[in-house]
Amino acid sequence: MSLQDILYTQGFGTRRVCAGLVQQGFVTVAGVSCADPAAEFAAEGLRFGVQGVPWEFHEKAYLMLHKPAGYECSQKPSTYPSIYTLLPAPIRQRGGGAAAGVQAVGRLDQDTTGLLLLSDDGKFIHRMSSPKHHVPKVYKVTAKHPVDEAQVQKLLQGVVLDDDPKPVRAAACQQTGPSHLSLTLTEGKYHQVKRMIAAVGNRVNDVGGLHRSCIGALALPDDLLPGQWRWLSAQDLQAISTAPAAI
Ligand code: URA
Repeated sequence: MSLQDILYTQGFGTRRVCAGLVQQGFVTVAGVSCADPAAEFAAEGLRFGVQGVPWEFHEKAYLMLHKPAGYECSQKPSTYPSIYTLLPAPIRQRGGGAAAGVQAVGRLDQDTTGLLLLSDDGKFIHRMSSPKHHVPKVYKVTAKHPVDEAQVQKLLQGVVLDDDPKPVRAAACQQTGPSHLSLTLTEGKYHQVKRMIAAVGNRVNDVGGLHRSCIGALALPDDLLPGQWRWLSAQDLQAISTAPAAI
């Protein structure tokens, strides 16, 4: 692929802008400056630099973000800043056009923290967010009131939410502290954790009450701080479709 097209597919602007970046000497390939926009390279995995920032070519983008509190998972947020502002511009602009950039796989509430996946692979997003695929997600809940065994059992047996007479149940639920639960869900209904906790007579704490720690067997890494993102490795992608370890 030409260097100009490599930059274009990775979100560095129009083909013209990308050619300009190369001609002005802003681009390096494997550490060596290249000023020819038509120079050909094997794209997959290519390491290049743009204005001193290192990049690696990815045909499709698969990322994880440690979502901080106080961000909305929307491109057009109403009250809080968008999670997309936490990503570098090329990741937000990949592919160009109306559907440019990566999209979050499902949404977390503004006040929820934790593991969020993003991609520009439509099939992946669909597969991961489709209720049919039952990808288990683990949530750490801090409740406002003490948790007891009766609440745990109700969450496991199923509770009825206001929009559907069919009960929803937790795939796993353990009490992890006086007001703490680890809850594994395989669906992703609107405000599902908050509504399930309310249905058993408790409430998710307003501050720091909900954190997603795992999607499948992929756990949020300890060294990925709130607001940080990283590319998913092949191993991470495999872990997503594997059941999470028992907590
Ligand atoms: N359930 C909720 O209630 N909120 C989230 O952000 C995720 C799951």
